[in-house]
Amino acid sequence: MSVAVRYQSRGGNTRAAAETLAEALGVKAEPITVPVKEPADVLVLCGGTYAFKPDKEMSAFIGSLDAGKAGKAYVLATASGTKHGVNGMTAALQAKGITVADSFLLRLGAQGNTLLGKKGGMLTEAQKASVREFAAKIRA
Ligand SMILES: Cc1cc2nc3c(=O)[nH]c(=O)nc-3n(C[C@H](O)[C@H](O)[C@H](O)COP(=O)(O)O)c2cc1C
Repeated sequence: MSVAVRYQSRGGNTRAAAETLAEALGVKAEPITVPVKEPADVLVLCGGTYAFKPDKEMSAFIGSLDAGKAGKAYVLATASGTKHGVNGMTAALQAKGITVADSFLLRLGAQGNTLLGKKGGMLTEAQKASVREFAAKIRA
């Protein structure tokens, strides 16, 4: 099974989650600036949630995807708590005719967003374990 992992991350949380996920899947996580050139059996998209939506760059990336490049997709979103990122990415993929097999929301509260700026990317072992559980579902 070929797997491609792409992520969008402003503050580092989603990048950290994508890297944990990709490592568990034995592949490299790449930012969405890296196009999906070869068709993948599984495309995993990881994105943050901003003002009740996925990031505009993520939406544009999904909009530009060739449906033939992904047999099916999985979605991982990080968020303080809302499902808007997961739901937005899932709907955009489905609108492209790409089946979303499963999704995972990593709820982080205010983690990584401080008054002194963004310091994301420091996931706890429990958070990494939950991401690895999602990776195990993808592999199954
Ligand atoms: C400008 C901004 C808007 C946000 N809006 C939401 C939101 O609507 N819902 C939510 O649950 N989290 C929201 N968050 C929290 C982020 O989704 C969360 O910190 C996420 O892990 C950020 O990912 P990143 O560090 O990869 O950019 C927001 C964060 C920022 C900075």
